Amino acid sequence: MGNAIYKRIAKCRICGNKNLVKYLNLGKTPLANRLLGPQDTDKQEEKFPLEVMYCKNCSLSQLSILVSPRVLFSYYPYRSSISSAFRKHCAEMSNKISGTLKTKPNGLIVDIASNDGCLLQEFKKNNFRTLGIEPAKNLAKIAEENGIDTVNSFWNGETAEKIIPIHGKAQVIIATNVLAHVDNLNKFMAAVGILLRDDGLFIVEVPYLYDLISKNEFDTIYHEHLSYFLVKPLQKLYNDHGFTIVNIEKYPIHGGTIRVYASKKSPGRENPGKSVSNFLNFEQNEGMYSLKTYNKLDDRVKKIKKDLLKALKNLKGKGKKIAAYGASAKGSTLLNYCGIDNGLISFIVDDTPEKQNHLAPGSKIKIVDASYMEKNKPDYLLLLAWNFAKEIMEKTSKIYGKPVRYIIPVPKVKIQ
Ligand code: TYD
Repeated sequence: MGNAIYKRIAKCRICGNKNLVKYLNLGKTPLANRLLGPQDTDKQEEKFPLEVMYCKNCSLSQLSILVSPRVLFSYYPYRSSISSAFRKHCAEMSNKISGTLKTKPNGLIVDIASNDGCLLQEFKKNNFRTLGIEPAKNLAKIAEENGIDTVNSFWNGETAEKIIPIHGKAQVIIATNVLAHVDNLNKFMAAVGILLRDDGLFIVEVPYLYDLISKNEFDTIYHEHLSYFLVKPLQKLYNDHGFTIVNIEKYPIHGGTIRVYASKKSPGRENPGKSVSNFLNFEQNEGMYSLKTYNKLDDRVKKIKKDLLKALKNLKGKGKKIAAYGASAKGSTLLNYCGIDNGLISFIVDDTPEKQNHLAPGSKIKIVDASYMEKNKPDYLLLLAWNFAKEIMEKTSKIYGKPVRYIIPVPKVKIQ
């Protein structure tokens, strides 16, 4: 894309079809993880169109633009390990996969976009050799400090080729919450084909588009999430690269996630597992292959905006102090789309050291640590990381010492 900071998408990222139809427009927003310094209160931030399109051929949902990955991912403040629910999810994943791979305890497990090494720590505990691939310098450094061998690179064929003479081929390659971030999925898959052993397993976790649509999780849409997956387009992608899906499982993490296990096709291993047809039938029955289903989302999203603004203004009018919890990327979409700023929300609490003492993109609300909240007790907390509602409620009700109420924005605005 040369030096341009973003480009428009003209054809489907998976099937190449040009019949892409826009179904959601969230306006122009700044980059969701581009936090501002404490001094930047008057800074004019660059804003980018945030729109989603549906491919009429393979049913992949995708953003209408691509912001340069170098701009998006070279520094990344998101840390997987902050949430205990996610750490638990990683431990369970490792135990489950390790259980099925008992015969090869010395196998190499590679995690693409390994973040701070959260998942690989768990595999290490299960005596596997582990290797992380992480493009963000700050995160690769944290992982290394925690004893997780990490290659600080983007994932591509060149990276895969460099690894083989040093570590050998991988028994398992894992990519959790990364496929949505990838523009060139064909190159991504080709690189997996290079590094994975012929009898290896490729395991992907992606947020499931069915949950996004059915639970109005529109705030999970932001510029880093280029694609929104169903099984149908994934199957096409895998087929094109000689992979077959052997199993699919559903998990509640991040508002609804599918875990897709795939292997290289070989004689006797060409047919997809039974769960694949179950998912495809489900998607068909739920109207996920019909543009009509998607066109209805817009009204529901507008209603969330209207209800949320009304609730916040009403509480503010009654003299209530409102703060938010979780300076998440999805929080950024929510605040910017709804036009909520520091006139309505006093501060955002986040436990990530890299985020504290910064300002949230667009809204310019200050991000603070939990001790600040203890000193400046709000009456209401807007949950910007509603996917971790239980964990955050437990945490805040304990440290609080006075009753606090929670505002949950999706699937519809609820105060509890
Ligand atoms: P998350 O919802 O995981 O992702 P995204 O940025 O993709 O929308 O972000 C959760 C944010 O909430 C993250 O900044 C960490 C923060 N957080 C805490 O500060 N404390 C907690 O106990 C939890 C669960 C999350």
